Amino acid sequence: MNTLTKLALGLMGQLKPRPPVGTAATTIELPPPHRSGGMPLMEALQTRESRREFAPEALPEQTLSDLLWASAGINRPELGGRTAPSAMNSQEVQLYVALPQGLYRYESAAHALLLEVATDVRRVTGYQDFVDTAPLDLIYVADHGRMKLVPAAQREAYAFTAAGAMAQNVYLYCASAGLATVIRAWFDRHALSQAMHLEADQQLLLAQTVGAAKGDR
Ligand SMILES: Cc1cc2nc3c(=O)[nH]c(=O)nc-3n(C[C@H](O)[C@H](O)[C@H](O)COP(=O)(O)O)c2cc1C
Repeated sequence: MNTLTKLALGLMGQLKPRPPVGTAATTIELPPPHRSGGMPLMEALQTRESRREFAPEALPEQTLSDLLWASAGINRPELGGRTAPSAMNSQEVQLYVALPQGLYRYESAAHALLLEVATDVRRVTGYQDFVDTAPLDLIYVADHGRMKLVPAAQREAYAFTAAGAMAQNVYLYCASAGLATVIRAWFDRHALSQAMHLEADQQLLLAQTVGAAKGDR
């Protein structure tokens, strides 16, 4: 769906998810992530960029596993520490994954995807048309219930900062794996909150599309 249509539907409160493609499993157990190898860090930094043309094919499960672990995975099991920092280790940013068959939440401890809503919410994750057909859109959501130790006035800023760190991990993983990605803030927050069935203390932060690159730079 093109951007103008999405803007118009959004104004009318009619920007809605599509029916799911296929049947959504309640849980997707991910294979263990590859925690070594990949492109040298300085080359990944040299290669990092935003790209906005995506092939529609689903990412292999191992790629999905590595990508989610890079963003929000546990890298120090003894501490429950993650690959990205958070203020006072609140780990308040929840990572949602919009796939054609449904909306999932990444559960770091289990390294699995848990089904939240069995609809295709990709279209609602952004005004830009590519979000509808790219194989996955990540959505970063702050759970304010996990930030009780953070002063109230700082919570939003801290959550955006933590989401930014997670998103940069995704950028670097994508650079290393030869995938395209772009972080995004331009979406209909009301429509997406509704489509995701978010609770009152959950705040939408950012979205990020990932997929194999299509076309030239
Ligand atoms: C907070 C934030 C919000 C952004 N929102 C969007 C967006 O909604 N749509 C989009 O296409 N790009 C978005 N971008 C990506 C920027 O346009 C992009 O990073 C910038 O043009 C620099 O390009 P580069 O990432 O290739 O260096 C956003 C970037 C940031 C940091």
